[in-house]
Amino acid sequence: MGNNLLSGKRGIVFGALNDMSIAWKVAERAVEEGAIITLSNTALAVRMGTVNELGKKLNCEIIPADATKVEDLEMVFMQSQEILGGKIDFVLHSIGMSPNVRKKRTYDDLDYNLLNSTLDISAISFHKMLQAAKKLDAISEGGSVIALSYVAAQRTLFGYNDMADAKAMLESIARSFGYIYGREKNVRVNTISQSPTMTTAGSGIKGFDGLFDFSNRMSPLGNATADECADYCMVMFSDLTRKVTMQNLFHDGGFSSMGMSLRAMEQYNKCFENDFKDETGHIIYG
Ligand SMILES: NC(=O)c1ccc[n+]([C@@H]2O[C@H](COP(=O)([O-])OP(=O)(O)OC[C@H]3O[C@@H](n4cnc5c(N)ncnc54)[C@H](O)[C@@H]3O)[C@@H](O)[C@H]2O)c1
Repeated sequence: MGNNLLSGKRGIVFGALNDMSIAWKVAERAVEEGAIITLSNTALAVRMGTVNELGKKLNCEIIPADATKVEDLEMVFMQSQEILGGKIDFVLHSIGMSPNVRKKRTYDDLDYNLLNSTLDISAISFHKMLQAAKKLDAISEGGSVIALSYVAAQRTLFGYNDMADAKAMLESIARSFGYIYGREKNVRVNTISQSPTMTTAGSGIKGFDGLFDFSNRMSPLGNATADECADYCMVMFSDLTRKVTMQNLFHDGGFSSMGMSLRAMEQYNKCFENDFKDETGHIIYG
């Protein structure tokens, strides 16, 4: 049951691939809260994933678009305004992908063309989205734009690879564009830094299960789920957070403020004797 937090609002949700996707949960919650929305993802994702089911369930249109292409994004904003009958009140950027991670290139052996793709898909697409929306004046006064980030933007976590650089850039874009969009149009721009979450993108990260378990145990409140992330997005899209902008908001059960917990200390003491070896048998320090 919703609380009508988004009653009368129009939104665009980018990045729902299947029912594990964070964007999927956000779309469901937004409609439950009274919003009308459109969905967008790449043409390939629309074909390969199950977003059509979501479209049917929520009775909303799906607009295929590659978020690295400005003309595609312009089309999404123009069509969404037509379909929904006015300016857009909230946007979710839930897009991320690293071809280097996919090709198992380590951070000290990156392919730079692939790095460009990682940054374009996972970070610069957010700038393109904001710039396209602003030029078209597609977002209403007081509108709210959210992109999803991860704590690896600030702290090094084994295996996160070039996505860490993409997330650092994503958070910076939220601040830089948030200043301009806030000043000129009263539009809020924030990132939500979410716990590790079992999704298609999440499970592509090296050692994801271990990372998930570690942060779950380390966080006093445990990992935040995709459903809980959707709840947080509802508050951020609502009028209850009118003066929150240019922030990276941690939604991680407290993980980002932890250094060492009692349980982690006990575990650490137990396994300190072991050597840590990579796939080729070399001992890894640190
Ligand atoms: N899963 C996690 O552990 C976790 C943690 C923190 C932040 N995030 C972030 O949450 C966001 C959503 O990821 P998710 O975990 O729900 O996984 P997901 O795989 O369900 O979503 C990623 C989406 O990005 C889309 N995408 C990729 N390239 C695109 C392009 N060129 N244009 C448009 N869309 C494109 C994919 O089709 C997919 O729908 C990402 O930004 C991710 O980095 C995820």
